[in-house]
This record gives sequence, C-alpha cells and structure tokens, in this order.
Amino acid sequence: MSEMNAEDRTRLDRTPEWNALAKHRDELGEVHLRELFADDPRRAEKYALTVGDLHLDYSKHLVTDETLRLLRELAAAADVAGLRDAMFRGEKINTTEGRAVLHTALRAPESAVVKVDGENVVPAVHAVLRKMQVFTDRVRSGDWKGHTGKPVKNIVNIGIGGSDLGPAMAYEALRAFTARDLTFRFVSNVDGADLHEAVRDLDAAETLFIVASKTFTTIETITNATSARNWLLAQLGAGEEAVAKHFVALSTNEEKVSEFGIDTTNMFEFWDWVGGRYSYDSAIGLSLMLAIGPDHFREMLAGFHLVDEHFRTAPPEENAPLLLGLLGVWYGNFHGAQSHAVLPYSHYLSKFAAYLQQLDMESNGKSVDREGRPVNWQTGPVVWGTPGTNGQHAYYQLIHQGTKLIPADLLGFARPVEDLQPGLVAQHDLLMANLFAQGQALAFGKTAEEVAAEGVPAELVPHKTFRGNRPTTTILADELSPSVLGQLIALYEHKVFVQGAIWNIDSFDQWGVELGKVLAKRVEPALTSGAAVSGLDASTAALVSRYRELRGR
Ligand code: F6P
Repeated sequence: MSEMNAEDRTRLDRTPEWNALAKHRDELGEVHLRELFADDPRRAEKYALTVGDLHLDYSKHLVTDETLRLLRELAAAADVAGLRDAMFRGEKINTTEGRAVLHTALRAPESAVVKVDGENVVPAVHAVLRKMQVFTDRVRSGDWKGHTGKPVKNIVNIGIGGSDLGPAMAYEALRAFTARDLTFRFVSNVDGADLHEAVRDLDAAETLFIVASKTFTTIETITNATSARNWLLAQLGAGEEAVAKHFVALSTNEEKVSEFGIDTTNMFEFWDWVGGRYSYDSAIGLSLMLAIGPDHFREMLAGFHLVDEHFRTAPPEENAPLLLGLLGVWYGNFHGAQSHAVLPYSHYLSKFAAYLQQLDMESNGKSVDREGRPVNWQTGPVVWGTPGTNGQHAYYQLIHQGTKLIPADLLGFARPVEDLQPGLVAQHDLLMANLFAQGQALAFGKTAEEVAAEGVPAELVPHKTFRGNRPTTTILADELSPSVLGQLIALYEHKVFVQGAIWNIDSFDQWGVELGKVLAKRVEPALTSGAAVSGLDASTAALVSRYRELRGR
C-alpha cells in the first residue's frame, strides 16, 4: 500500500488499489448472499457495528473480508484520514472557494479549540447558541410580543436549500419533541403558492418570520421574505416599525440583512466555513430550537459530536462513516450502481431523503477533480427514497425485480415516539416487521425451485422468482430522539465526505447551481415585460413566446 502521488490521483482508476478492487470484483462474479451467509455462520455478528445509539448491520452487502480490506486500502491510498484531519483542523479544504469546512465546530464542546486563520471559532459558536437560547425562551414563554402586543403562536421559516431542508426535515423528525401549541411552516419555493398556503390561515399579529439565508442574496428567499413583509404590514395595517417584532434573520451577511430592513440585533450569525447543506446545527436551526427547545437542540448537537469523534478517532475497521462511504464506492464504481435509496421506516423521517439529496448530490455531483481535471470514474449517486411502508406499494417492485442494482439503507427505531396514541402503538411492530422482511427479501430472494415447490404453474415461476442479492444496510436505533437524529446526520455527512475524498473532488462547493440562476435572471424580464428575447436558444425562445401568448402578453 502506498499513498498516491498527484499524477496517480488523476488516474484513480489506474492505481494498484483500484485495479485490485476491479480484479476482485471479477473474481467474486455473481456470488450470492445466500452462499456468503452459508459459508460464514458468524457473518451477521461480524458485519455489524455500534456507534453511539446507532446499530449498523452491513452483513447484507455483496462483500467479503477481502472486499472490505481492499476498500480500506483504497481509502488509505487516497489519504481519506489526512483530509479528514485537515477538515477537523480548520484547513481550507474547500479549495475552489478558499474556505475551511467546519460544520464539526458547530457541535464542538465549549472547551474545544478550533482555529480558522489563527482564531478559535468555538467561543463565537457558543455565543450564538446562547443568543438563540435567550430568544427561544422569550418566544416560547410568551415574553416576546408582536407589534400589537400578542405573543408568537406561528413561526414561518423562509429559506431554500440548506436554509430550509435541514430545519424542515428535523422539525418533522422531532415532531414528538416539539411545542405542540406553536405552528411551524417552512416556505422555500419561489412559487407564490408556497407562501400563500403557509400564511393564509395565520394571524399576522401572532406570526414570526425567520428569514434564513447564508448569503442573504438568494432570489427565492429575498422575494418570499419581501412578500411576507408586505403581507404582514398589510394584515396589521402597520408601517415598517412592525418589522422588528416579526422578522429575524439567520445569515452570514450583516450588511444585506440590514439593507433588507431587519434590525441586526435580531440577526443570528454564522460563518462562511459552514456550508449551506451542513448548516442546520448552526443559527439556521433557530426554527428547530424554537420547536424543540434549547435542551433538546443541545442534545442533538451532542449526538452530532459523538459521531464526529467516532469518525475522527475510530480505526478504519470500525469506522462507520468510512465503511458506508466505501460501500457506496464499491457499488458505484465497481458494480455500476447509479443510485442509492434511503428508506426510513419512520413517518417522522418523511423529509429525510430530500435532505440527503442536497447533502449528497450537491456535495458529490461533480465531474472534475480538485485540480479541475475531468474525472474518469463515477462520482456521487442519485439519492432518493420515501418512508416505508409507502414505497413498498410503489417502487419497491423495481428494487426487487428490476434490472438495476439499487443499494439501499433501511432505517428503523425500536420504540415508537412517546406521545403516540396508545391505540396506535401496536402498529409499530407491523411497521418494523416490514423493515426486517424487506431486508430479508432483498438479500435472499426466492429461488425458482422454492416458487415451483409452492405449486406455482411453470409459466408463472419466472415472474414470481426473486433473484435477491440486493444489498442493504440496516440502521437501527432505540428511538428517534434529538441525539439520534444528530448522530444519523453526522453519519451521512461524513459518509459523503469519505466518498468525495476518494473521488478527489471538492465536496464543499456547488458551482453547478449557478448557470441556471444567471439564465433565469436573463429570461425573467422577457416574461414579465414582453421585452425582446435575446440570447436564448431556439427551443427556449419558442417556449418563452408560447408562455407570453398564453399569458396574453
Ligand atoms: O442551491 C445553492 C445554494 O447556494 C445552496 O448551497 C444553499 O443551501 C442554498 O442555495 C441557499 O443559500 P442561502 O442560504 O445563501 O440563501
């Protein structure tokens, strides 16, 4: 095993470690999980890990000890650990933006020291947490009053991407821990319908808007925030002075917040070393803190930190994010898998896959390496999924019997949430029975012989046969608590990191979202004013003309 030099890095797919994996893949051929389990009675216990409250079973993967060893060698050659340590140290590993990548500092204990440009950032992190806590206590106790003197009953978070998906996902996930007397809404889409539906039944006098935007320049958010301000002032029949009692901002950009008309004393700060998709444990989580309270929020941060420490210190053989990252590389680069399904058996995780889509696909949807050279290997997968059991009655057919290999994560919790109606608790066993059954069916399938033995007519046997060998990771925890949610998110964050490190891409920029933004700005005047359309391709120009015709412009 040797570390790759710069030249090798451009040829990841020609390194000895990569070649060894390709050869090993050929040798394994179509070996079946049935054989792998039969050959090793200890497989289930051997291929399992416990990290904090998370139990991971990875025995249903198309791997042997040798596969795992070779994958770890690839990680060692790509110096995943070196990049990981550089990230934790605050080095500027987001090279295209010249920024440190320090979401791990957001959940570091107050005693920790993490320096960016020579300055310890941890005290500032905790100062903002305390400010969030004071504000949260005031709102939840009714001490914070709106313009007309009424306490806040409704909280509307306006943000998009990382300034929406994290808080919205975590609010759903932790609903059982939320103040049920408060109403929370999350507005992201520039489609006016989103804001319209979010506020139409709210009393403006009892409504607080949280404008969440790292840059405070994102057109969707600024447009929605402006409309929300107009709605509020119209509803209250008030002037600009009402804004201070009903609007707070979460941002890195004090100047723009002030320009928008939000008092910067009502601004909760974060920093450029927090990527948008890694930000919901920063000030961006204010709506979540309002929902679950500061203590639960801190429990969640402790959960994140637990997995950070695990990732930083656990040996490769026991390092869960490393393992999950490597399994993804195994399927994406050596089995041709194009996508990865995330299938939580918890209704509370209904937005989990949408959150992971940004985390994973905005991070690793890249096709040039850190030096800007085209990569010759597959990078990030398409991530998708919805909660079980709904998916079982929709797309699982394709996972079971389709022609595509779709590795999947099955997530479940031993206990239902505490405030579930007693009459519904019994359903939890049925839910979990489905999770376990799916993992089994996907891995082991049902042979033609087994089908025929049931007396199925010969012509139907192929249709009722399940080939199996569909790999899954099962992640099981006691309950979906704030800490467990933090642990899960950190697990996925670091998994994505591992993959980006191996593929030698910058997982922390997102230049791919820029072109569409620029073009939308160019097209919009043509739609609204009917101005001559220039600089458009023929197809887009024809669509714009058709749109204008339909709108009578
Ligand atoms: O989609 C691009 C992006 O920059 C995301 O990375 C980010 O989470 C989102 O837009 C919102 O950005 P902001 O928080 O600056 O409004």
